[in-house]
Amino acid sequence: MSERVLTGITTTGTPHLGNYVGAIRPAIQASQQQDNESFLFLADLHALIKCHEPDKIQQSTLEIAATWLALGLDPDMTVFYRQSDVPEISELCWVLNCMAAKGLMNRAHAYKAAVASNLEEKQDADFGITMGLYGYPVLMAADILMFGAHKVPVGKDQIQHVEMARDIAQRFNHHFGEVFTLPEAVVEDDVAVLQGLDGRKMSKSYGNTIPLFLPPKKLQKSINKIKTNLLEPGEPKDADTSTVFQMWQAFSTPEQTAEMRQAFADGIAWGEAKKQLGALINDEIAEARERYESLLANPKQIEETLLHGAEKARSYSRSLLADVKQAVGIRPLS
Ligand code: TRP
Repeated sequence: MSERVLTGITTTGTPHLGNYVGAIRPAIQASQQQDNESFLFLADLHALIKCHEPDKIQQSTLEIAATWLALGLDPDMTVFYRQSDVPEISELCWVLNCMAAKGLMNRAHAYKAAVASNLEEKQDADFGITMGLYGYPVLMAADILMFGAHKVPVGKDQIQHVEMARDIAQRFNHHFGEVFTLPEAVVEDDVAVLQGLDGRKMSKSYGNTIPLFLPPKKLQKSINKIKTNLLEPGEPKDADTSTVFQMWQAFSTPEQTAEMRQAFADGIAWGEAKKQLGALINDEIAEARERYESLLANPKQIEETLLHGAEKARSYSRSLLADVKQAVGIRPLS
């Protein structure tokens, strides 16, 4: 049996270079050489947990869908859908809520971090915490278990959630019979974690990102803002502690990396290194950026692609939900 691989992307924000290098590029490469079944979805129900601005939710969904399509995700090879278009997920989520231990949710990192920050600020522990945030891992379990995913590629911060999905599935299977496949998180160790403008991990929450599809001039401007030290042209520079070099490495061939390392040792000026970096990144994304822009100008086409994907997804989810209902006793009376 072929392996089923599934992952979701929360639809908040605009994709940035860190998302591209760390998640999108490897996922698209994997999807193009696949001998497995792959599912990729836009987690817009998850987005509601973090964002209560309707226009932003819609815009981000559009941008993220356009990004993946522009970069070569093939919706004929991957079941590509929007979570909210598959109502069975929400329904399964409720059933799982009735099997998920509250104590398990108490241990979820995102929830614990929210409580900790409340206490630090001398707020009530529950301040600003919704049931959505609390139950986030259960919805994620529904996403995963719905499609019988074996493998779930995620970032390190999400491993715990996949393990919770596995826990919940085990508990269900133990009580009601073998309905769910037990999923496993896969974390690519060798994917780059890109540094942002300030040298910390590039992340929307640090406000240090470079949006992926900036027009060339703005891209260069943004790259010029990467923090460097004050070494003058001609002074040797340490490649290993440089964000400019780290980014170069994420986009260059091994030969180009070696050349740039040498250029650093030879004292390349920061301005010159940044100029070369801008050109390198631009070369890699220029074609996709054109496709991205034409997709954004044609949201109807994206909408159709997503609805078509949801139909494919539902051919799985309807039948799984029927099994679940049967198993728990929500059945026709005669
Ligand atoms: N929570 C994931 C994130 O923020 C997104 C997500 C939602 C997901 N459902 C999923 C990832 C199911 C993998 C599988 O990154």
